[in-house]
Amino acid sequence: MVTGGTDGMGAALARHFLNAGDRVVVIGRSRAKFEALLTTVTSDQPVGSRAEFVAADLSLVADSRRVVAHLRANHERIDALVLAASFIRQRRHLTAEGHEASWALFFLSKYLFVTGLHTLLGAVDRPVIVNTAVPGARADAITFDDLEMGKGFSFARSNAQQRRANELLGILATNHNPGLSYVTWGPARLVRSSFAGEVGKTMTIAATILGTLAGQHPDAAVRPIIDLIDTPTPGRAAYRGAKQLTLTDSDRDHEDATRLAAAVADVAAG
Ligand SMILES: NC(=O)c1ccc[n+]([C@@H]2O[C@H](COP(=O)([O-])OP(=O)(O)OC[C@H]3O[C@@H](n4cnc5c(N)ncnc54)[C@H](OP(=O)(O)O)[C@@H]3O)[C@@H](O)[C@H]2O)c1
Repeated sequence: MVTGGTDGMGAALARHFLNAGDRVVVIGRSRAKFEALLTTVTSDQPVGSRAEFVAADLSLVADSRRVVAHLRANHERIDALVLAASFIRQRRHLTAEGHEASWALFFLSKYLFVTGLHTLLGAVDRPVIVNTAVPGARADAITFDDLEMGKGFSFARSNAQQRRANELLGILATNHNPGLSYVTWGPARLVRSSFAGEVGKTMTIAATILGTLAGQHPDAAVRPIIDLIDTPTPGRAAYRGAKQLTLTDSDRDHEDATRLAAAVADVAAG
């Protein structure tokens, strides 16, 4: 199952596993992009019902909940869950539900998927979650009393907070299922993806130039993720490209994970 599976690295992964003969559920907003993705599948085996598209705006908590309920009702197990939906916003933006959009997409939705799908992930011997949140954020990156950054929002703060939160989510998930492989992963360098988002001219130009000059193709960038999915190792891990990073496992990490779960409990409960 791949959130953000219609474009960029998510689409590269969906295509790879469809070519390998697997069943793949793609979650994104655009059915047209999903249909375009299917035309790039070169597998000898017909795709047919092996590919499923679930349309959702994962910046909406209600949509994330709806998708989780749909997956639970229609699937018996999940071997691999890839969390790759991305829409970069440089400015603070509230969704129609009143949540800060980046926090909702990059953390609340992922929290709902990871916690809501644990039974399906627990139904296989070696489940794996690859969360494309770049590891290595500062330990103090979370503002627990203002998670949606009503005060002092900046792209850098918002980005660091969701990255730290997604690492803590790994503690919660692997405490719940020690057999689970939970990987926070970022590419080794810039990837030439769609860079979906609402960003200023400077960031757009920089990403376009850097992407063209030095960016990796998504198909190449996801090679390490494919290896992590094909041979999962139980427990938490963090990677930049194919390079494994050292994870901290301090008392503070565990306390912060518990605090984070408590702070989003109301949203998670609905
Ligand atoms: N590209 C890089 O260099 C880079 C660097 C560091 C980290 N990453 C991380 O890697 C992951 C993949 O990035 P990418 O650059 O490959 O992505 P991308 O090409 O920008 O594609 C984003 C995907 O997210 C989906 N999406 C956007 N908003 C959504 C929403 N509200 N609800 C549901 N789906 C939504 C898009 O599909 P629809 O248009 O169909 O909605 C698309 O499939 C992200 O987590 C990103 O933060 C990327």
